[in-house]
Amino acid sequence: TKRPYVVDEMISAKSIAARIEALAQEIDREFADTDKLVVVGLLRGSFVFIADLVRELHLPVEVDFLEASSYGDGMESSREVRILKDLRSGIEGRDVLVVEDIIDTGFTMSHVLHMLSGREPRKLKVIALLDKPTRREVEIKADWTGFEIPDEFVVGYGIDFAQRNRNLPYIGKVRFTD
Ligand code: PRP
Ligand code: MN
Ligand code: MG
Repeated sequence: TKRPYVVDEMISAKSIAARIEALAQEIDREFADTDKLVVVGLLRGSFVFIADLVRELHLPVEVDFLEASSYGDGMESSREVRILKDLRSGIEGRDVLVVEDIIDTGFTMSHVLHMLSGREPRKLKVIALLDKPTRREVEIKADWTGFEIPDEFVVGYGIDFAQRNRNLPYIGKVRFTD
């Protein structure tokens, strides 16, 4: 049975939207010369962020997904990243933006970047909505970060706790009530 908890709002839907607007402008500038940007969302956590982000871009984009999983239903990284679904398109010579909801230990992003850079894209950049720099175990940094957050277990806006709370429109932190 599930340990009881409540979710306290940490970043409002409004501040997320404002931050995404600003980030999208920077991405528009960075990829201004692209003929078509491949925007890669890491399933499942990034599905909300990628949906909002691509709608703020003024570039020709293509959307693709990669599924990598390390946490399963637990609160701890397994440190063993599995690729459950690969991209549909080849990315050799292409401009690629990897979209992630959160970088925590860094294992997921490090694994994904290593794999994708081996395919020799023209440009490979990373955007993460959230970053928990104090938790890092692998040296990795996003090119753009929405918000740096302290070491709290967060949910919402795509992020789950044991597959729950992905549908919250804001980022909240889990507080156990027992
Ligand atoms: C979560 C989150 C990131 C990753 C970050 O995914 O969405 O992808 O963990 O953690 P790390 O930096 O410690 O690797 P998860 O494995 O829970 O899969 P999900 O996106 O399907 O929830
Ligand atoms: Mn994820
Ligand atoms: Mg998860």
